Amino acid sequence: MSLQRNAGGSFKKWNSMNIFRTIFYIGMLFFSQLSFSQGLENEKQIESRVDSLLSLMTLEEKIGQLQQVQAEYGKISESRREEIKTGKVGSVINESDAKTIKELQRLAVEESRLQIPLLIGRDVIHGFKTIFPIPLGQAATFNPELVKQGAFHAAKEAHSIGVNWTFAPMIDISRDARWGRIAESFGEDTYLMTVLGEAMVKGFQGETLSPDSYLAACAKHFAGYGAAEGGRDYNTVFLHDTDLRNTHFPPFKRLADIGVATFMSGFHDLNGIPVSGNQYIIRNVLKNEWKYNGMVVSDWVSIEQLKDHGFTVNDKESAEKALKAGVDMEMVSQTYKNHLKDLIKEQKIEIDLVNDAVKRILRIKFKLGLFENPYSKFDKPVFAQKETLTSAKKMAEESLVLLENKKNTLPLDAKKIKQLAVFGPLADDGYEQMGTWVFDGDEGLSITPLETLQKELGTKKVKYKKSLETTRTFKDDFSEELQVAEKSDAVLVFVGEESILSGEAHSRSVLDLPGSQEQLIHELTKLNVPVVVVVLAGRPLSLGKVAQEVESLLFAWHPGTMAGPAIYDVLFGKTAPSGKLPVTVPVNSGQIPIYYNHKNSGKPATEESYTNIQDIKVRAPQTSVGNTNHYLDIGFKPLYPFGYGLSYSEFSISKPQLEKTQFSKNEKVKVAVTVKNVGNVDAKEVVQLYIRDLHGSITRPVKELKKFEKIFLKKEESKTLHFELNPEDLSFYNYENEWVIEPGKFELWIGNSSITENKIDFEITD
Ligand code: BGC
Repeated sequence: MSLQRNAGGSFKKWNSMNIFRTIFYIGMLFFSQLSFSQGLENEKQIESRVDSLLSLMTLEEKIGQLQQVQAEYGKISESRREEIKTGKVGSVINESDAKTIKELQRLAVEESRLQIPLLIGRDVIHGFKTIFPIPLGQAATFNPELVKQGAFHAAKEAHSIGVNWTFAPMIDISRDARWGRIAESFGEDTYLMTVLGEAMVKGFQGETLSPDSYLAACAKHFAGYGAAEGGRDYNTVFLHDTDLRNTHFPPFKRLADIGVATFMSGFHDLNGIPVSGNQYIIRNVLKNEWKYNGMVVSDWVSIEQLKDHGFTVNDKESAEKALKAGVDMEMVSQTYKNHLKDLIKEQKIEIDLVNDAVKRILRIKFKLGLFENPYSKFDKPVFAQKETLTSAKKMAEESLVLLENKKNTLPLDAKKIKQLAVFGPLADDGYEQMGTWVFDGDEGLSITPLETLQKELGTKKVKYKKSLETTRTFKDDFSEELQVAEKSDAVLVFVGEESILSGEAHSRSVLDLPGSQEQLIHELTKLNVPVVVVVLAGRPLSLGKVAQEVESLLFAWHPGTMAGPAIYDVLFGKTAPSGKLPVTVPVNSGQIPIYYNHKNSGKPATEESYTNIQDIKVRAPQTSVGNTNHYLDIGFKPLYPFGYGLSYSEFSISKPQLEKTQFSKNEKVKVAVTVKNVGNVDAKEVVQLYIRDLHGSITRPVKELKKFEKIFLKKEESKTLHFELNPEDLSFYNYENEWVIEPGKFELWIGNSSITENKIDFEITD
């Protein structure tokens, strides 16, 4: 029996059931009018609408809501039409054709019995048509407002074609640069990840999920995915509960608290139980302990893969384990669709579990206002608007991290340059500068560094040669480059990794510049011309040799559409660089895992204790006394520390001022510093506050970022910053999983990188 709505909206086929349904819809309309006049649906109304709708659903329709199907890319087959009309689809992933999306929605809301709209999901990770820097680059801005704005613009563009759900932000702590997905994360730090994750969600959804939201967001991949063994994507993860709770969970907990619409369960095996079947972390922690009432979607076919993990014997058992674990919607595979009915009949699954999952999905559809308007809020696509491009440029600019600037080679003076040599495979590649996860990114919008240089300096002055066909090309004759470089006032080399070398399933074992890029740079540095290297890459790279040889080194990540103007403005001093590393850069991949907030160990390495491999005498006897936690060949220090990045100016930061040095457990610790721009140019600085809890019932990291503020100071200007640490900021989960603040001594630093020594001590008393 189907309830059909004709073009005019009146209902056909009347009978008693339909009269009942009509009353229900009038009720819904009443509620929607109410919500319209109030601006916001209130939670209670939504719950009652969810319950009413659920009470009308057949088991097949309920199971249908749990199914996300893969798009047919610009087409809708007869069988897909039928599936939607008969209520067998809750969501479609990856359709990006506006007309097709509209038709999919129309089928759902006009031709299905209960007229339930679809969630239209797409990976809008760092922009839609206009591409913003990769998330790792966004993290380097240390600027939550920019991240929020970027997500807002991305959401607007995507929503304008009818997409209403994105699978971002990815908030997996990423301490391993080999892991290709580090590009998609906000780096290695729990606090930075939490702050920026929140900013991104608010950019996508608005302050709360509502009919005004452009996109529902998704916190992924719950949890610990970034700790894949060996940095190999999809690999096994082992994390003790204290690591999960103190390091990996906090960003997820925060996003659950602020109402992120959805969570995604990871692909990986966590402590022996693949996440998409892991009751402990989804049902117990997320849903029961954190009281999350949003929806959990699996990752792509990750329920079916439970059997590949060796966790289930067949798809039926996978469906059972995943639903019990708390995965509400199945992405692409169809184990729920094919087996839930039988599992219920056999009493292996209780209908309450299915109902709960359906309610979570309906709740989001109601919150987004899709029952009132399932389509885009725009009449036509809104791509690459002026303010979107401006926002993308601003973010790209602030994401650039200046790692070296010997002899203050940068900024270059445009007036003094008669000839500029530009080399490298990434100087003029509008596609590669966009980075990973840009399904919809419009290469045609990209402005490359070369284009901007030619526009600003004139084509005559700029002598360009690609030199290497790709970043992976091998070549040893660079004589033509040397001839051009010799006659130039400066040499710019654009190197790095193409987009495809990072992102999902693209891990690397070494972190060097691929191909002959290093050799190209090496040859150029033999001349007496300043060499400036700009690196575009999806991960931090071990650039030790390059750093030694060149005058200036600017790390640009994959900066997106506006790479050209952003890089130009920094290279030529229209703005000072202000990006900071959101990850530790290792000397080489053998140093991984290396992250700033490590534990001290019983034998921490120091300058004095470090023995270099070259200093070891022949036939030296075995020693361990006095030896410490380091490598003989690469020592114990990273190439660049977390939070590091140079400016064209300099800043002095006063010693932190505390009101007192002893605080009770419930008190706030208030601290102030005065920051002064003591250099010659106006610039931004990221002021970073770290603490160390010196002794604990479990050992605590040697440093933990707890606050940061990015400030702009004109030259000679100064500003006093006040930070407050709540008892929460000093607490952690102990071995018994209790959230505690333990009395004792703390150290507190405020500086402009994680290696700051600007310290004061305080104590927490009982
Ligand atoms: C990725 C997810 C992504 C999903 C949908 C998976 O392969 O792991 O992060 O959201 O595909 O495209």
